[in-house]
Amino acid sequence: MTDFNRKEHWENIYQTKSLHEVSWYQPSPFTSLEFINELEISKEAKIIDVGGGDSFLVDQLLKNGYRKVSVLDISAKAIIRAKKRLGNMADKVEWIEADAAEYSPDTQYDFWHDRAAFHFLTQEDEIRHYTQTAYDSINAGGYLLVGTFSTNGPTKCSGIEISQYSESRLVERFSKFNHIKCQIVDHITPSGGVQNFIFCLFQKP
Ligand SMILES: C[S@@+](CC[C@H](N)C(=O)[O-])C[C@H]1O[C@@H](n2cnc3c(N)ncnc32)[C@H](O)[C@@H]1O
Repeated sequence: MTDFNRKEHWENIYQTKSLHEVSWYQPSPFTSLEFINELEISKEAKIIDVGGGDSFLVDQLLKNGYRKVSVLDISAKAIIRAKKRLGNMADKVEWIEADAAEYSPDTQYDFWHDRAAFHFLTQEDEIRHYTQTAYDSINAGGYLLVGTFSTNGPTKCSGIEISQYSESRLVERFSKFNHIKCQIVDHITPSGGVQNFIFCLFQKP
């Protein structure tokens, strides 16, 4: 993987595939929204969607009254697509073009969300950077919700290797956090395939 250029890979995906063509397309990010609703996250909460791409989570958060929302993605093209879709509402969002494997925010969040981005990190140093950064960048009492392919899920996504996770592996990776709960969810891709995900919720002590 030494010659692999992660940014180029993702820019190419967003250049060549439409919103509905990508396997992770979800018209409504219902699992994430269920967690957020259940926790009754304050509308004042600072929320970051890491590897948000052009997901509809940001649309839903704005619609539900959240006003301190950031979306981080390695792909400028993904961000441009999401901004275009949101129109004027895009100005209410902080957009961060960065690689989560090396980026460290200079602010603290109350809710850190990641659906299908963390699992692309396969190198130990990058995984450690991510988990430590998440810990350092979440306020005490704040939450982290991470959704990855489970051990029954695919071993690759968009042609590249991913790390599969069981509940115990995710809990081990985010061991500085208090583990609240995990949920197994089948995602149905636009072509009708089934991808088994695990979503785990953690709270920073
Ligand atoms: C499978 S897609 C999921 C997109 C979105 N979270 C969703 O649920 O629809 C993975 C996303 O993570 C982004 N990504 C992959 N690796 C990343 C990294 N190291 N840092 C930031 N973003 C990354 C990709 O550009 C892509 O938008």
